[in-house]
Amino acid sequence: MNKLIAVVGAIALLAGGFYLGQSKQPAPTVIKVPAEPREKFSSAGAEEVASAPAATVRSLETPTSGELIVVKDGESIQDAVKQASPGAVIKVMPGTYRETVYIDKDNITLSGVIEQGKYPVLEGEGKRNDAILYSGNGVTIENFYITHYKGNGVMGQAGNNYIIRNNFVVDTGVYGIFPQLGKNGIVSHNIISGIEDAAIYVGMSDNVDVVFNQVYESVAGIEIENSRHALVEGNMVYDNTGGILAFITPGLPIKTCGDVIIRNNFVVDNNHENFAIPGSLVSNIPSGTGMLIMACDDVVVENNIITGNKSAGMIFTDFSLATSAATDPDSEPNPNRPKILNNIMRNNGDDPEPMVRAFLATQLEARGPDIVDTVGMDDGCILNPERYRTLGLDKYGECEFASTANVASYTLPEPVPPRSMEDLDKGKLAYYGVCAGCHAYDSRMIGPPARIIQAIYMDDPQAIADYAANPERKREDYPEMPPQSHLDEETRLAAAKFMLNLKN
Ligand code: HEC
Repeated sequence: MNKLIAVVGAIALLAGGFYLGQSKQPAPTVIKVPAEPREKFSSAGAEEVASAPAATVRSLETPTSGELIVVKDGESIQDAVKQASPGAVIKVMPGTYRETVYIDKDNITLSGVIEQGKYPVLEGEGKRNDAILYSGNGVTIENFYITHYKGNGVMGQAGNNYIIRNNFVVDTGVYGIFPQLGKNGIVSHNIISGIEDAAIYVGMSDNVDVVFNQVYESVAGIEIENSRHALVEGNMVYDNTGGILAFITPGLPIKTCGDVIIRNNFVVDNNHENFAIPGSLVSNIPSGTGMLIMACDDVVVENNIITGNKSAGMIFTDFSLATSAATDPDSEPNPNRPKILNNIMRNNGDDPEPMVRAFLATQLEARGPDIVDTVGMDDGCILNPERYRTLGLDKYGECEFASTANVASYTLPEPVPPRSMEDLDKGKLAYYGVCAGCHAYDSRMIGPPARIIQAIYMDDPQAIADYAANPERKREDYPEMPPQSHLDEETRLAAAKFMLNLKN
Protein backbone atom coordinates (compact mmCIF):
# COMPACT_ATOMS: atom_id res chain seq x y z
CA MET A 1 0.00 0.00 0.00
CA ASN A 2 1.10 3.51 -0.64
CA LYS A 3 2.80 4.48 2.53
CA LEU A 4 1.98 8.14 2.55
CA ILE A 5 -1.64 7.48 1.88
CA ALA A 6 -1.55 4.96 4.66
CA VAL A 7 -0.29 7.54 7.11
CA VAL A 8 -2.52 10.36 6.00
CA GLY A 9 -5.43 7.98 5.69
CA ALA A 10 -4.96 6.71 9.19
CA ILE A 11 -4.92 10.20 10.57
CA ALA A 12 -7.94 11.20 8.53
CA LEU A 13 -9.75 8.16 9.79
CA LEU A 14 -8.98 9.07 13.34
CA ALA A 15 -9.93 12.63 12.79
CA GLY A 16 -13.08 11.79 10.87
CA GLY A 17 -16.28 12.77 12.53
CA PHE A 18 -14.73 15.36 14.80
CA TYR A 19 -15.15 19.03 14.53
CA LEU A 20 -12.50 21.58 15.07
CA GLY A 21 -12.98 24.32 17.59
CA GLN A 22 -11.05 27.28 18.92
CA SER A 23 -10.92 26.25 22.54
CA LYS A 24 -8.18 23.90 23.71
CA GLN A 25 -10.29 22.32 26.43
CA PRO A 26 -12.43 19.53 25.07
CA ALA A 27 -16.05 19.44 26.08
CA PRO A 28 -16.69 16.26 28.02
CA THR A 29 -17.46 13.79 25.31
CA VAL A 30 -17.26 15.49 21.95
CA ILE A 31 -13.67 15.47 20.85
CA LYS A 32 -11.92 18.33 19.21
CA VAL A 33 -8.66 17.62 17.50
CA PRO A 34 -6.25 20.23 18.85
CA ALA A 35 -4.75 21.00 15.47
CA GLU A 36 -5.31 19.58 12.04
CA PRO A 37 -2.72 17.30 10.49
CA ARG A 38 -0.20 19.42 8.70
CA GLU A 39 -0.60 19.87 5.01
CA LYS A 40 3.12 20.11 4.46
CA PHE A 41 3.47 16.39 4.82
CA SER A 42 1.84 15.78 1.51
CA SER A 43 4.38 17.85 -0.38
CA ALA A 44 8.09 17.91 0.38
CA GLY A 45 9.72 14.68 -0.70
CA ALA A 46 6.50 12.79 -0.43
CA GLU A 47 7.17 10.61 -3.43
CA GLU A 48 10.33 9.07 -2.11
CA VAL A 49 8.69 8.23 1.14
CA ALA A 50 5.61 7.01 -0.67
CA SER A 51 7.68 4.60 -2.72
CA ALA A 52 9.00 2.94 0.42
CA PRO A 53 7.69 -0.51 1.19
CA ALA A 54 4.76 -0.26 3.54
CA ALA A 55 5.45 -1.11 7.14
CA THR A 56 3.58 -4.06 8.45
CA VAL A 57 1.90 -3.42 11.72
CA ARG A 58 2.42 -6.90 12.99
CA SER A 59 -0.69 -8.23 14.58
CA LEU A 60 0.17 -9.07 18.09
CA GLU A 61 -3.09 -10.13 19.61
CA THR A 62 -4.34 -10.11 23.14
CA PRO A 63 -5.88 -13.53 23.85
CA THR A 64 -9.55 -13.36 24.76
CA SER A 65 -11.76 -15.77 26.66
CA GLY A 66 -15.18 -14.66 25.50
CA GLU A 67 -15.91 -12.77 28.71
CA LEU A 68 -17.31 -9.33 27.85
CA ILE A 69 -17.90 -6.48 30.25
CA VAL A 70 -19.49 -3.23 29.13
CA VAL A 71 -18.86 -0.03 31.05
CA LYS A 72 -21.30 2.83 30.57
CA ASP A 73 -21.01 6.53 31.26
CA GLY A 74 -21.37 7.03 35.01
CA GLU A 75 -19.88 3.63 35.86
CA SER A 76 -16.30 2.88 36.85
CA ILE A 77 -13.76 1.30 34.53
CA GLN A 78 -11.71 0.21 37.52
CA ASP A 79 -14.66 -1.76 38.89
CA ALA A 80 -14.87 -3.58 35.59
CA VAL A 81 -11.17 -4.42 35.70
CA LYS A 82 -11.60 -5.77 39.24
CA GLN A 83 -14.40 -7.98 38.11
CA ALA A 84 -12.62 -9.19 34.98
CA SER A 85 -10.79 -12.49 34.61
CA PRO A 86 -7.76 -12.84 32.38
CA GLY A 87 -8.93 -12.90 28.78
CA ALA A 88 -11.82 -10.49 29.35
CA VAL A 89 -12.73 -7.77 26.90
CA ILE A 90 -13.86 -4.58 28.60
CA LYS A 91 -15.76 -2.26 26.32
CA VAL A 92 -16.03 1.31 27.50
CA MET A 93 -18.87 3.38 26.07
CA PRO A 94 -18.49 7.09 25.25
CA GLY A 95 -18.73 9.22 28.36
CA THR A 96 -16.46 10.89 30.86
CA TYR A 97 -14.57 8.76 33.33
CA ARG A 98 -12.86 10.59 36.16
CA GLU A 99 -10.52 7.97 37.52
CA THR A 100 -7.21 6.17 37.35
CA VAL A 101 -7.35 2.65 36.00
CA TYR A 102 -4.90 -0.02 37.19
CA ILE A 103 -4.60 -3.24 35.26
CA ASP A 104 -2.57 -5.89 37.05
CA LYS A 105 -4.10 -8.91 35.33
CA ASP A 106 -2.97 -10.65 32.18
CA ASN A 107 -4.70 -10.63 28.81
CA ILE A 108 -7.10 -7.76 29.38
CA THR A 109 -8.45 -5.86 26.41
CA LEU A 110 -9.57 -2.38 27.40
CA SER A 111 -11.33 -1.04 24.39
CA GLY A 112 -13.10 2.27 24.00
CA VAL A 113 -16.23 2.31 21.89
CA ILE A 114 -16.32 5.25 19.50
CA GLU A 115 -19.75 6.38 18.45
CA GLN A 116 -20.04 9.10 15.85
CA GLY A 117 -16.80 10.67 16.91
CA LYS A 118 -17.55 10.42 20.60
CA TYR A 119 -14.83 8.68 22.56
CA PRO A 120 -14.76 7.54 26.12
CA VAL A 121 -12.83 10.35 27.83
CA LEU A 122 -10.49 9.73 30.73
CA GLU A 123 -10.52 13.06 32.51
CA GLY A 124 -7.79 13.78 35.06
CA GLU A 125 -9.20 17.21 35.97
CA GLY A 126 -5.66 18.44 36.55
CA LYS A 127 -5.46 16.52 39.80
CA ARG A 128 -5.06 12.82 39.06
CA ASN A 129 -1.64 11.52 38.28
CA ASP A 130 -2.15 8.69 35.80
CA ALA A 131 -4.96 7.69 33.49
CA ILE A 132 -4.08 4.03 32.87
CA LEU A 133 -1.35 2.01 34.57
CA TYR A 134 -0.81 -1.60 33.59
CA SER A 135 1.51 -4.26 34.85
CA GLY A 136 -0.29 -7.25 33.39
CA ASN A 137 0.99 -9.05 30.32
CA GLY A 138 -0.86 -9.13 27.04
CA VAL A 139 -2.76 -5.92 27.63
CA THR A 140 -4.48 -3.97 24.86
CA ILE A 141 -5.50 -0.36 25.44
CA GLU A 142 -7.29 1.35 22.60
CA ASN A 143 -9.68 4.09 21.57
CA PHE A 144 -9.50 6.41 24.56
CA TYR A 145 -9.29 10.16 24.77
CA ILE A 146 -7.06 10.94 27.72
CA THR A 147 -6.68 14.45 29.02
CA HIS A 148 -5.66 16.66 31.96
CA TYR A 149 -3.69 14.11 33.98
CA LYS A 150 -0.54 15.25 35.74
CA GLY A 151 1.76 12.28 35.27
CA ASN A 152 1.18 9.70 32.57
CA GLY A 153 -1.50 9.00 30.00
CA VAL A 154 -0.77 5.30 29.67
CA MET A 155 2.08 3.79 31.62
CA GLY A 156 3.18 0.17 31.54
CA GLN A 157 5.33 -1.40 34.20
CA ALA A 158 7.01 -4.60 33.10
CA GLY A 159 4.06 -5.90 31.11
CA ASN A 160 5.02 -7.87 27.98
CA ASN A 161 3.12 -8.29 24.70
CA TYR A 162 1.24 -5.02 24.89
CA ILE A 163 -0.71 -3.03 22.32
CA ILE A 164 -1.47 0.64 22.80
CA ARG A 165 -3.26 2.07 19.83
CA ASN A 166 -5.71 4.63 18.49
CA ASN A 167 -5.68 6.79 21.58
CA PHE A 168 -5.60 10.52 21.94
CA VAL A 169 -3.49 11.86 24.74
CA VAL A 170 -3.89 15.59 25.06
CA ASP A 171 -2.43 18.04 27.54
CA THR A 172 -1.44 15.34 29.96
CA GLY A 173 1.52 15.62 32.27
CA VAL A 174 4.94 14.20 31.92
CA TYR A 175 4.62 11.23 29.60
CA GLY A 176 1.89 10.53 27.09
CA ILE A 177 2.42 6.83 26.43
CA PHE A 178 5.14 5.22 28.51
CA PRO A 179 5.68 1.48 28.34
CA GLN A 180 8.58 0.65 30.63
CA LEU A 181 10.50 -2.57 31.15
CA GLY A 182 8.31 -4.52 28.80
CA LYS A 183 9.17 -6.79 25.93
CA ASN A 184 7.31 -7.18 22.68
CA GLY A 185 4.88 -4.35 22.16
CA ILE A 186 3.22 -2.07 19.66
CA VAL A 187 2.45 1.61 20.03
CA SER A 188 0.52 2.65 16.96
CA HIS A 189 -1.90 5.21 15.57
CA ASN A 190 -1.96 7.39 18.67
CA ILE A 191 -2.27 11.16 18.51
CA ILE A 192 -0.45 12.90 21.32
CA SER A 193 0.17 16.56 22.07
CA GLY A 194 1.00 18.97 24.86
CA ILE A 195 3.32 16.72 26.90
CA GLU A 196 5.98 18.21 29.17
CA ASP A 197 8.48 15.44 28.61
CA ALA A 198 7.99 12.75 25.98
CA ALA A 199 4.80 12.15 24.03
CA ILE A 200 5.85 8.53 23.48
CA TYR A 201 8.50 7.19 25.80
CA VAL A 202 9.73 3.66 25.39
CA GLY A 203 11.92 3.02 28.41
CA MET A 204 14.16 0.02 29.20
CA SER A 205 12.24 -2.13 26.74
CA ASP A 206 12.89 -4.66 24.01
CA ASN A 207 11.22 -5.43 20.69
CA VAL A 208 8.90 -2.51 20.24
CA ASP A 209 7.30 -1.00 17.15
CA VAL A 210 6.33 2.65 17.40
CA VAL A 211 4.46 3.17 14.18
CA PHE A 212 2.02 5.59 12.57
CA ASN A 213 1.64 7.92 15.49
CA GLN A 214 1.24 11.65 15.34
CA VAL A 215 3.09 13.56 18.04
CA TYR A 216 3.36 17.31 18.29
CA GLU A 217 3.61 20.32 20.58
CA SER A 218 5.46 18.29 23.18
CA VAL A 219 9.02 18.64 24.46
CA ALA A 220 10.16 15.31 23.03
CA GLY A 221 8.14 13.63 20.32
CA ILE A 222 9.30 10.01 20.49
CA GLU A 223 11.92 8.73 22.89
CA ILE A 224 13.61 5.35 22.74
CA GLU A 225 15.58 5.13 25.95
CA ASN A 226 17.84 2.34 27.21
CA SER A 227 16.01 -0.02 24.85
CA ARG A 228 16.93 -2.52 22.17
CA HIS A 229 15.24 -3.52 18.92
CA ALA A 230 12.93 -0.60 18.37
CA LEU A 231 11.35 0.29 15.06
CA VAL A 232 10.17 3.88 14.76
CA GLU A 233 8.31 4.14 11.49
CA GLY A 234 5.70 6.18 9.68
CA ASN A 235 5.22 8.72 12.44
CA MET A 236 4.46 12.39 12.02
CA VAL A 237 6.63 14.26 14.43
CA TYR A 238 6.37 18.03 14.33
CA ASP A 239 6.32 21.20 16.40
CA ASN A 240 8.07 19.53 19.30
CA THR A 241 11.26 20.82 20.91
CA GLY A 242 13.06 17.68 19.73
CA GLY A 243 11.46 15.23 17.31
CA ILE A 244 12.80 11.68 17.64
CA LEU A 245 15.32 10.72 20.29
CA ALA A 246 17.23 7.50 20.87
CA PHE A 247 19.47 7.62 23.88
CA ILE A 248 20.86 6.25 27.08
CA THR A 249 19.94 7.87 30.34
CA PRO A 250 22.89 7.16 32.59
CA GLY A 251 22.13 5.60 35.95
CA LEU A 252 19.24 3.34 35.01
CA PRO A 253 19.45 -0.40 35.64
CA ILE A 254 19.41 -1.31 31.98
CA LYS A 255 22.55 0.16 30.54
CA THR A 256 22.34 -0.22 26.81
CA CYS A 257 20.46 1.14 23.83
CA GLY A 258 20.80 -0.30 20.37
CA ASP A 259 19.37 -1.68 17.15
CA VAL A 260 16.97 1.12 16.51
CA ILE A 261 15.56 1.73 13.05
CA ILE A 262 14.10 5.16 12.43
CA ARG A 263 12.54 5.20 8.99
CA ASN A 264 9.82 6.76 6.89
CA ASN A 265 8.96 9.42 9.44
CA PHE A 266 8.15 13.06 8.91
CA VAL A 267 10.29 15.06 11.29
CA VAL A 268 9.29 18.61 10.58
CA ASP A 269 9.60 22.02 12.25
CA ASN A 270 10.48 20.77 15.70
CA ASN A 271 11.09 24.27 17.00
CA HIS A 272 8.84 24.41 20.02
CA GLU A 273 10.07 26.29 23.02
CA ASN A 274 11.42 23.83 25.60
CA PHE A 275 8.86 23.73 28.40
CA ALA A 276 10.27 20.72 30.23
CA ILE A 277 10.58 20.68 33.97
CA PRO A 278 13.88 22.46 34.65
CA GLY A 279 16.66 20.01 35.38
CA SER A 280 15.04 17.05 33.65
CA LEU A 281 17.11 15.38 30.96
CA VAL A 282 14.90 16.64 28.17
CA SER A 283 15.18 20.22 29.42
CA ASN A 284 18.62 20.09 27.77
CA ILE A 285 17.26 19.43 24.30
CA PRO A 286 17.91 22.43 22.10
CA SER A 287 14.76 23.69 20.49
CA GLY A 288 14.95 22.99 16.76
CA THR A 289 16.32 19.44 17.00
CA GLY A 290 14.94 17.03 14.44
CA MET A 291 16.60 13.87 15.76
CA LEU A 292 18.94 13.26 18.62
CA ILE A 293 20.91 10.07 19.03
CA MET A 294 22.82 10.07 22.29
CA ALA A 295 25.00 7.09 23.18
CA CYS A 296 22.60 4.70 21.45
CA ASP A 297 24.34 2.13 19.22
CA ASP A 298 23.51 0.78 15.77
CA VAL A 299 20.86 3.34 14.96
CA VAL A 300 19.77 3.29 11.32
CA VAL A 301 18.15 6.42 9.95
CA GLU A 302 16.43 5.78 6.67
CA ASN A 303 14.05 7.50 4.33
CA ASN A 304 12.81 10.18 6.69
CA ILE A 305 11.79 13.65 5.69
CA ILE A 306 13.59 15.96 8.05
CA THR A 307 12.93 19.60 7.34
CA GLY A 308 12.65 22.99 8.99
CA ASN A 309 14.29 22.06 12.29
CA LYS A 310 16.05 25.27 13.23
CA SER A 311 19.02 23.99 15.23
CA ALA A 312 19.94 20.80 13.36
CA GLY A 313 18.31 17.99 11.44
CA MET A 314 20.08 15.14 13.20
CA ILE A 315 22.53 15.13 16.09
CA PHE A 316 24.73 12.18 17.07
CA THR A 317 26.35 12.77 20.42
CA ASP A 318 27.61 11.35 23.70
CA PHE A 319 26.56 12.31 27.22
CA SER A 320 27.90 15.83 26.89
CA LEU A 321 24.40 17.07 26.19
CA ALA A 322 23.08 15.62 29.42
CA THR A 323 24.92 18.27 31.35
CA SER A 324 23.24 17.62 34.67
CA ALA A 325 23.62 13.87 34.36
CA ALA A 326 26.77 12.40 35.72
CA THR A 327 28.13 9.69 33.51
CA ASP A 328 27.59 6.06 34.33
CA PRO A 329 30.70 3.87 34.24
CA ASP A 330 28.53 0.99 33.05
CA SER A 331 27.13 2.80 30.03
CA GLU A 332 29.37 3.41 27.06
CA PRO A 333 28.74 7.00 25.98
CA ASN A 334 29.40 6.92 22.24
CA PRO A 335 26.72 6.51 19.58
CA ASN A 336 28.52 3.55 18.01
CA ARG A 337 28.09 2.46 14.40
CA PRO A 338 25.60 5.12 13.23
CA LYS A 339 24.11 4.35 9.85
CA ILE A 340 22.58 7.12 7.79
CA LEU A 341 20.88 5.83 4.66
CA ASN A 342 19.01 8.06 2.22
CA ASN A 343 16.89 10.76 3.80
CA ILE A 344 15.43 14.02 2.66
CA MET A 345 16.79 16.90 4.63
CA ARG A 346 16.10 20.52 3.88
CA ASN A 347 16.00 23.88 5.62
CA ASN A 348 17.50 22.60 8.83
CA GLY A 349 19.71 24.74 11.05
CA ASP A 350 18.40 28.10 9.90
CA ASP A 351 18.26 29.64 13.34
CA PRO A 352 20.14 27.57 15.91
CA GLU A 353 19.59 27.84 19.64
CA PRO A 354 22.36 29.67 21.53
CA MET A 355 23.80 26.41 22.86
CA VAL A 356 24.05 24.97 19.36
CA ARG A 357 25.29 28.28 18.02
CA ALA A 358 28.12 28.20 20.56
CA PHE A 359 29.11 24.73 19.42
CA LEU A 360 28.93 25.81 15.78
CA ALA A 361 31.16 28.79 16.49
CA THR A 362 33.92 26.40 17.56
CA GLN A 363 33.56 24.82 14.12
CA LEU A 364 33.52 28.24 12.45
CA GLU A 365 29.95 27.74 11.35
CA ALA A 366 26.90 29.90 11.90
CA ARG A 367 24.18 27.85 10.34
CA GLY A 368 23.18 24.54 11.87
CA PRO A 369 23.86 21.40 9.85
CA ASP A 370 21.52 18.75 8.52
CA ILE A 371 23.62 16.18 10.35
CA VAL A 372 26.22 16.62 13.06
CA ASP A 373 28.29 14.04 14.90
CA THR A 374 29.79 15.83 17.89
CA VAL A 375 31.97 12.84 18.77
CA GLY A 376 33.37 12.26 15.26
CA MET A 377 32.72 8.51 15.22
CA ASP A 378 35.01 6.47 12.99
CA ASP A 379 32.71 3.48 12.64
CA GLY A 380 29.74 5.25 11.07
CA CYS A 381 28.45 5.08 7.52
CA ILE A 382 26.40 7.32 5.28
CA LEU A 383 24.95 7.13 1.79
CA ASN A 384 25.18 10.12 -0.52
CA PRO A 385 26.68 12.50 2.02
CA GLU A 386 26.86 15.24 -0.61
CA ARG A 387 23.11 15.67 -0.28
CA TYR A 388 23.43 17.11 3.19
CA ARG A 389 25.31 19.76 5.08
CA THR A 390 27.25 17.76 7.64
CA LEU A 391 29.67 18.35 10.48
CA GLY A 392 31.94 15.80 12.10
CA LEU A 393 31.26 13.01 9.61
CA ASP A 394 34.75 13.02 8.09
CA LYS A 395 35.47 9.48 9.21
CA TYR A 396 32.18 7.97 8.03
CA GLY A 397 32.45 5.38 5.27
CA GLU A 398 29.84 4.32 2.75
CA CYS A 399 27.09 2.04 4.06
CA GLU A 400 27.11 -1.48 2.74
CA PHE A 401 23.35 -1.64 2.50
CA ALA A 402 20.75 0.82 1.27
CA SER A 403 17.62 -0.38 2.98
CA THR A 404 16.32 -2.09 6.11
CA ALA A 405 13.40 -3.61 4.24
CA ASN A 406 14.37 -7.02 5.60
CA VAL A 407 13.12 -5.86 9.01
CA ALA A 408 9.35 -5.54 8.76
CA SER A 409 8.87 -5.34 12.50
CA TYR A 410 10.87 -5.69 15.66
CA THR A 411 8.06 -7.36 17.53
CA LEU A 412 8.43 -11.10 17.94
CA PRO A 413 6.35 -13.66 16.07
CA GLU A 414 5.23 -15.36 19.29
CA PRO A 415 4.21 -13.73 22.58
CA VAL A 416 7.00 -13.83 25.11
CA PRO A 417 6.38 -15.36 28.53
CA PRO A 418 5.62 -12.99 31.40
CA ARG A 419 8.63 -11.58 33.12
CA SER A 420 9.22 -13.88 36.04
CA MET A 421 8.95 -12.41 39.47
CA GLU A 422 12.13 -14.23 40.35
CA ASP A 423 14.35 -11.92 38.40
CA LEU A 424 12.45 -8.89 39.63
CA ASP A 425 11.40 -9.03 43.25
CA LYS A 426 8.59 -6.82 44.43
CA GLY A 427 10.74 -3.89 45.55
CA LYS A 428 12.85 -3.92 42.45
CA LEU A 429 9.82 -4.17 40.23
CA ALA A 430 8.05 -1.29 41.94
CA TYR A 431 11.19 0.82 42.05
CA TYR A 432 12.06 0.37 38.41
CA GLY A 433 8.46 0.35 37.30
CA VAL A 434 7.38 3.45 39.18
CA CYS A 435 10.07 5.40 41.00
CA ALA A 436 12.74 5.10 38.30
CA GLY A 437 10.47 6.98 35.92
CA CYS A 438 11.50 10.07 37.90
CA HIS A 439 14.53 9.07 39.98
CA ALA A 440 17.88 7.96 38.55
CA TYR A 441 20.80 6.93 40.69
CA ASP A 442 23.22 9.72 40.11
CA SER A 443 21.52 12.18 37.87
CA ARG A 444 18.68 14.56 38.22
CA MET A 445 15.56 13.50 36.37
CA ILE A 446 12.10 14.71 37.31
CA GLY A 447 13.00 14.02 40.92
CA PRO A 448 16.30 14.22 42.81
CA PRO A 449 18.90 11.45 42.40
CA ALA A 450 18.51 8.34 44.53
CA ARG A 451 22.02 8.92 45.83
CA ILE A 452 20.87 12.17 47.46
CA ILE A 453 17.80 10.47 48.88
CA GLN A 454 20.03 7.72 50.34
CA ALA A 455 22.07 10.40 52.08
CA ILE A 456 18.95 11.96 53.59
CA TYR A 457 17.24 8.75 54.69
CA MET A 458 20.23 6.51 55.45
CA ASP A 459 18.63 3.42 56.97
CA ASP A 460 15.03 4.51 57.30
CA PRO A 461 13.08 2.91 54.46
CA GLN A 462 9.82 3.40 56.34
CA ALA A 463 10.27 7.17 56.16
CA ILE A 464 10.75 6.95 52.40
CA ALA A 465 7.67 4.78 52.07
CA ASP A 466 5.68 7.27 54.12
CA TYR A 467 6.94 10.19 52.09
CA ALA A 468 6.08 8.39 48.85
CA ALA A 469 2.51 7.84 50.04
CA ASN A 470 2.12 11.43 51.08
CA PRO A 471 4.78 13.63 49.55
CA GLU A 472 5.09 17.24 50.55
CA ARG A 473 6.80 20.00 48.69
CA LYS A 474 10.47 20.15 49.69
CA ARG A 475 12.44 21.77 46.92
CA GLU A 476 11.93 25.01 45.08
CA ASP A 477 13.58 23.79 41.93
CA TYR A 478 11.67 20.54 41.57
CA PRO A 479 8.01 19.92 40.86
CA GLU A 480 5.86 18.29 43.48
CA MET A 481 6.17 14.54 43.68
CA PRO A 482 2.81 12.91 42.98
CA PRO A 483 1.59 10.60 45.77
CA GLN A 484 2.34 6.93 45.18
CA SER A 485 -0.58 5.82 47.30
CA HIS A 486 -1.74 3.53 44.52
CA LEU A 487 1.02 1.16 45.65
CA ASP A 488 0.12 -0.78 48.75
CA GLU A 489 2.08 -0.27 51.94
CA GLU A 490 4.17 -3.40 51.53
CA THR A 491 5.14 -2.54 47.96
CA ARG A 492 6.06 1.02 48.90
CA LEU A 493 8.29 -0.24 51.68
CA ALA A 494 9.92 -2.80 49.40
CA ALA A 495 10.58 -0.08 46.80
CA ALA A 496 12.01 2.17 49.50
CA LYS A 497 14.39 -0.55 50.67
CA PHE A 498 15.46 -1.15 47.14
CA MET A 499 16.03 2.56 46.63
CA LEU A 500 18.27 2.72 49.68
CA ASN A 501 20.40 -0.18 48.44
CA LEU A 502 20.74 1.03 44.90
CA LYS A 503 24.38 1.27 43.87
CA ASN A 504 24.30 2.63 40.36
C1 HEC B 1 6.36 11.43 38.67
C2 HEC B 1 7.65 11.56 39.24
C3 HEC B 1 8.01 10.80 40.50
C4 HEC B 1 7.79 9.49 40.80
C5 HEC B 1 7.07 8.44 39.96
C6 HEC B 1 8.41 9.28 42.08
N1 HEC B 1 8.97 10.42 42.54
FE1 HEC B 1 9.94 10.67 44.31
N2 HEC B 1 10.20 12.64 43.88
C7 HEC B 1 9.78 13.27 42.74
C8 HEC B 1 10.06 14.68 42.86
C9 HEC B 1 9.75 15.73 41.80
C10 HEC B 1 10.67 14.86 44.10
C11 HEC B 1 11.13 16.17 44.70
C12 HEC B 1 9.98 16.76 45.51
C13 HEC B 1 10.39 17.95 46.30
O1 HEC B 1 11.55 18.06 46.67
O2 HEC B 1 9.53 18.78 46.57
C14 HEC B 1 10.75 13.56 44.71
C15 HEC B 1 11.32 13.32 45.95
C16 HEC B 1 11.40 12.08 46.55
C17 HEC B 1 12.00 11.85 47.84
C18 HEC B 1 12.73 12.88 48.66
C19 HEC B 1 11.96 13.38 49.84
C20 HEC B 1 12.79 14.29 50.69
O3 HEC B 1 12.60 14.20 51.91
O4 HEC B 1 13.61 15.04 50.19
C21 HEC B 1 11.83 10.53 48.11
C22 HEC B 1 12.26 9.79 49.36
C23 HEC B 1 11.13 9.95 46.99
N3 HEC B 1 10.90 10.92 46.07
C24 HEC B 1 10.82 8.61 46.90
C25 HEC B 1 10.12 8.06 45.82
C26 HEC B 1 9.75 6.67 45.74
C27 HEC B 1 10.08 5.60 46.76
C28 HEC B 1 9.07 6.52 44.58
C29 HEC B 1 8.44 5.26 44.02
C30 HEC B 1 7.53 4.56 44.86
C31 HEC B 1 9.03 7.81 43.93
N4 HEC B 1 9.69 8.71 44.72
C32 HEC B 1 8.40 8.05 42.72
C33 HEC B 1 9.18 12.69 41.66
C34 HEC B 1 8.75 11.38 41.59
